[in-house]
Amino acid sequence: MSKVIAIDGPAGAGKSTISRLLARKLAYRYLDTGAMYRAITYLALEEGIDIHDTEEIVKLSKKIEMQITPPDENHISHIIINGRDVTDSLRTKEVDLNVSTVAKNKAIRELMTEMQRNIASSGNIIMDGRDIGTRVLPDADYKFFITASLEERARRRWKELREKGLEVSLAEIEKEIAERDREDSTRELAPLVKAEDAILIDTSNLSIQEVLDKLISYIKDEGNV
Ligand code: CDP
Repeated sequence: MSKVIAIDGPAGAGKSTISRLLARKLAYRYLDTGAMYRAITYLALEEGIDIHDTEEIVKLSKKIEMQITPPDENHISHIIINGRDVTDSLRTKEVDLNVSTVAKNKAIRELMTEMQRNIASSGNIIMDGRDIGTRVLPDADYKFFITASLEERARRRWKELREKGLEVSLAEIEKEIAERDREDSTRELAPLVKAEDAILIDTSNLSIQEVLDKLISYIKDEGNV
């Protein structure tokens, strides 16, 4: 049976890691909606557009041609923007610092939400983001809200960056994540908030495998695994 799984939560909670593993386990598609907002931010920065200039961002949104590829061998959909696959260029510090401002833009959100709903309409998909369970797919079959303490989320992101060879201070990462969470949670449109019917999972003291097992146990309860 065709199922839709929504996974929301703050920065660094482990949504994308868990979503990838779950997609592999269930053989579902996985769409990282944050990557869509990141792709627009990346293009805006590349074109030298003032991120705070709403009119310019709307103009940009009208000229963007975004395509989401069918899932690759790891079930991941790539983001093609104006003919270019930017998927692997989106997790930079510059994008991190500017994406929440772009994500506040009404025209951009409307465009992204419509695309996301279209992609989800054929089912068997895991979508992660901030507003999937609340706005994009309020009728999703399963909704999870994955979180962890700020300290733990910062530590995980710091470790990830260090493994990539980047020298960053833990305190700086913690400050940036806290700021992005604040912006995402307090914005007017589709703020980051747990859907009332979402299952809350605090991963502060859980391993990746334990989180995955927890999600699967909820899905299994209904005989879907
Ligand atoms: O991986 P991480 O949690 O750090 O971020 P992400 O999922 O790539 O999302 C980047 C940013 O995009 C978020 O901080 C939000 O500002 C925005 N976003 C959003 O507004 N709505 C979504 N459904 C997904 C992301």
